[in-house]
Amino acid sequence: MSVPTASAPAKIILCGEHAVVYGQPAIAVPVSSLRVTAEVSPNAPGQHGLNLVATETMEQIRIILGENTAYPEHPLSLAAALALRHWQIDSPDFTITVKSSIPIASGLGSGAAVSTAVIRALSLAINKPIETVALNGLVYEIEKLHHGTPSGIDNTVIVYEQAVYFVRGKPIERLSIDAPLHILIGDTGQTALTRVAVGDVRQLYDADPETIQPVLDAIGALVQESRQAIETGDSTTLGALMNQNHAFLQQLTVSSPELDTLVAAARDAGAFGAKLSGGGRGGNMIALVTPETIEPVKAALLAAGAARVFATTLQAG
Ligand code: MEV
Repeated sequence: MSVPTASAPAKIILCGEHAVVYGQPAIAVPVSSLRVTAEVSPNAPGQHGLNLVATETMEQIRIILGENTAYPEHPLSLAAALALRHWQIDSPDFTITVKSSIPIASGLGSGAAVSTAVIRALSLAINKPIETVALNGLVYEIEKLHHGTPSGIDNTVIVYEQAVYFVRGKPIERLSIDAPLHILIGDTGQTALTRVAVGDVRQLYDADPETIQPVLDAIGALVQESRQAIETGDSTTLGALMNQNHAFLQQLTVSSPELDTLVAAARDAGAFGAKLSGGGRGGNMIALVTPETIEPVKAALLAAGAARVFATTLQAG
């Protein structure tokens, strides 16, 4: 008998991170090859309640809701608790085992992917379907608890698993992609909390809005141009816009020497463009490449100190 399994992908922000918190547009895409899976199985004999077991890259923990108060703030526990409240039911007797290939705290949305996969698994376990809109709302609630003032872009791209042009509080717009986009993701290997970077940008903004607002506006404008470049398959323009976006993110103080080194290495090795992706201060950068430049750019990223490099392609459509 197959084991009921739910899953959710990682994400990257192609352009517009941070400014999106202030109402500017941003573009994000799912990375379907990096995933969280959540498997439902019966409890071990003698166990009761809902057991959530995290393996691999995450902590090894076991939570029995209502009994185990050691992890009240743990994302797994929160996701399950919010979902049970949504359905207005008590903890069912199941074990959900969560596995992830998404690096944590590195701007790839691992937290939102874990929440999404756990709630989907619970939905399978208790045989109660959950609407995508409701799921997105629940995952956003968890994001708020962990990230302070998230724009909602991470949960949206992960729950819908499609490329999105996103403006906070507006209906999501699907992005049409004219030609495949080949992207390398370079991990600095340094974890960084999005919440901290977002908080620091907020301080910067509050201290000097006259300087920061034009930067946010310029990011918003280049996101709109990026959308056109994606919709017309113009990788040269998209790469140049990604480079501009990285410079603006440097001005917002969310880059790091390691990110700058990887970005420069990718460009020197022939990428159309490169930038940090996500909250910054560590975590990941992305480079726009072609099938021909994938290997040299990947080699350059590893030589420049990337802890690992992932490749992803966004198909036209
Ligand atoms: C994080 O992936 C994107 C940020 O813009 C934060 C947010 O939008 O909530 C940095």
